Amino acid sequence: MKTIITGDRPTGRLHLGHYFGSIQNRVKLQYDYDTYILIADVQALTDNFEHPEKVRDSVHELVLDYLAAGIDPKKAHIYIQSYIPEVAELTVYFSNLVTVSRLYRNPTTKHEVGQKSELFGEDGESITYGFLGYPVSQAADITALDGDLVPVGEDQVPHIEQTREIVRKFNAIYGETFKEPEAVLSPNPRIKGLDGNDKMGKSLGNAIYLADSEEEVSKKVMSAVTDPSKIKKDDPANPDICMVYYYHKLLSNPNLDTVCKECRAGSRGCVACKKELIGVLLEFLKPIQEKRKYYEEHPEEVEKILKEGTAAARARTKEVMKRVRKNMKLDYFDEQ
Ligand code: TRP
Repeated sequence: MKTIITGDRPTGRLHLGHYFGSIQNRVKLQYDYDTYILIADVQALTDNFEHPEKVRDSVHELVLDYLAAGIDPKKAHIYIQSYIPEVAELTVYFSNLVTVSRLYRNPTTKHEVGQKSELFGEDGESITYGFLGYPVSQAADITALDGDLVPVGEDQVPHIEQTREIVRKFNAIYGETFKEPEAVLSPNPRIKGLDGNDKMGKSLGNAIYLADSEEEVSKKVMSAVTDPSKIKKDDPANPDICMVYYYHKLLSNPNLDTVCKECRAGSRGCVACKKELIGVLLEFLKPIQEKRKYYEEHPEEVEKILKEGTAAARARTKEVMKRVRKNMKLDYFDEQ
């Protein structure tokens, strides 16, 4: 059975962009692969090092969101990155195999640095060693578990490419040790925001969270962007440029054909259309929120899931690291 490794930085709650962009795909894949899902707290610290409490609280939210969204702890191992010290060790060995200029060229890190000017400076001149190097640590996350497939959003593809380069270089120098992992993009790797933005994101302020209340969902949907040429309720409009229609489609509203026809014919007002979407969304969120509530009320079960997931990941990593140390000629004697 092939191994999947994937995960997220704990920096807040999960929203629909995460769900449709990656979580839904992981839920499907967990039945066919040996699945490891990491909560990347070490990576989250690279741009939150001054706010450890934020990372800590988000770890808790993230596990609840994973379980609520359908990650099955009997199928997938959910684990905490910082509890696998071997990954930190492997990161150090890998750091010799990556040039600093290559790290600067990574388009995803470059983009992120541009968004974090208060932390890393207007031109990224104050970027830290840790942030610039996090793709190296991500390569260690993946290879330390002998990962075959990495299901992620499209922004992560450059990191997987960098992982593959590191693997090739490592194998060429120290002998065949790792396999090259492959990125697996979900069917809809990028989800648009209700405001018409190309991406739903926490920092963009356009996200609907899996844990949002009815009131929050309604407010957000009512402010969604529709075809601007439609002024009056019975003007015909183009659903292809309407975010409400985009979400009807994303959520597989069984009434989709009617929504489309009525919108084009001008026989459906935007307010009614938004109200229908609110209903569809709440229906979709209901089982997720019920499951979340169950786990919120059973913290001891959540802790057990994390402990077992982390133990499984660590055991596997230790085996891989024996191979690494042997091939790197660091196997002086058996560990005490
Ligand atoms: N970079 C990922 C994110 O920002 C999180 C992550 C860390 C990850 N290590 C990983 C994803 C290993 C896949 C595999 O969400």
